Amino acid sequence: MRNTYVPYPVRIKKAEVATEDKQLKTFLLEFINEQEGEDFNYIPGQFAELSVSGYGEIPIGIASSPTEGNDLLFTVNKVGSVSTQLHNMNEGDIMGVRGPLGNSYPLKEMEGKNIVIVAGGFAVTTLRSTMIWLLDPANRSKYGDITFIYGARTPGLLLYEDEWRSWRESGQANVNITIDREAEGWDGLVGFVPTVCEEVAPKPDDAVALICGPPVMIRFTQPVFDKLGWQPEQIVMSLENRMKCGIGICGRCNVGPEYVCKDGPVFTKAHLDQLPKEY
Ligand SMILES: Cc1cc2nc3c(=O)[nH]c(=O)nc-3n(C[C@H](O)[C@H](O)[C@H](O)COP(=O)(O)OP(=O)(O)OC[C@H]3O[C@@H](n4cnc5c(N)ncnc54)[C@H](O)[C@@H]3O)c2cc1C
Ligand code: FES
Repeated sequence: MRNTYVPYPVRIKKAEVATEDKQLKTFLLEFINEQEGEDFNYIPGQFAELSVSGYGEIPIGIASSPTEGNDLLFTVNKVGSVSTQLHNMNEGDIMGVRGPLGNSYPLKEMEGKNIVIVAGGFAVTTLRSTMIWLLDPANRSKYGDITFIYGARTPGLLLYEDEWRSWRESGQANVNITIDREAEGWDGLVGFVPTVCEEVAPKPDDAVALICGPPVMIRFTQPVFDKLGWQPEQIVMSLENRMKCGIGICGRCNVGPEYVCKDGPVFTKAHLDQLPKEY
């Protein structure tokens, strides 16, 4: 059996600055050993530990969808030692990926339901994975209407623009993209994500909402969904607690009795309401 602490070696196939402030970089990684790529079976919502030799490893949500093939996509914010080192790496460089880790979005339970996806800032990563998966011809008919609401501070901070434009053009989803304040050349929505949620007013009937974003966005989005009549068990969120092992051994990521790395990172709001607010 494979040692779960040992990362798979991968090559950086593409590394692109993703935002105007250069804080975010998107990496496409290919497995050195093709069979390992075949065996890396993941579901949208899971994450992996990205390792840079001599610096350490960091948990990052998987932004690609398994429907796209074996290469893995990640978008990384430059905040500290490992993420900065990762930003310094170039196409062709070798690094490690350990995973897939954690649970996933409840795609099976979501079948037959209308889906509302709400993303703020770079928390959109695993929701990109989910959208690609839901819109894949093999999956689209299993779900009802899909509403996608995504906001960033400025147009230059929006990720995956080609994709959300194509989702909108294909008419397969109701796509609502917003920025915080008016900006030159921007003719889309303007306003914070919670305000746009209020305007779009997604109905709770037979529906599930996946909501990921910075704490302030979550804090103001929750009351909007409450007002629209959504129940806590219909709302699914993903946590980003500090982690070390990623496999439920070190106890670094606990929220009450739950290991966010193993029992999460995806939880319903109903479940989170029962836990201490340590996230
Ligand atoms: C399940 C999961 C999915 C994630 N997905 C992504 C993703 O898709 N893209 C992305 O850019 N980041 C993501 N993160 C956050 C990412 O793991 C941290 O930013 C990273 O570990 C920082 O490592 P570092 O060595 O660069 O910084 P460090 O040198 O360890 O820390 C630098 C600064 O970042 C803060 N920090 C460290 N870890 C976290 C954390 N987990 N949450 C908030 N602040 C932290 C520290 O307090 C410090 O201020 C995710 C985290 C989790 C747990
Ligand atoms: S990170 Fe080690 S138990 Fe969760």
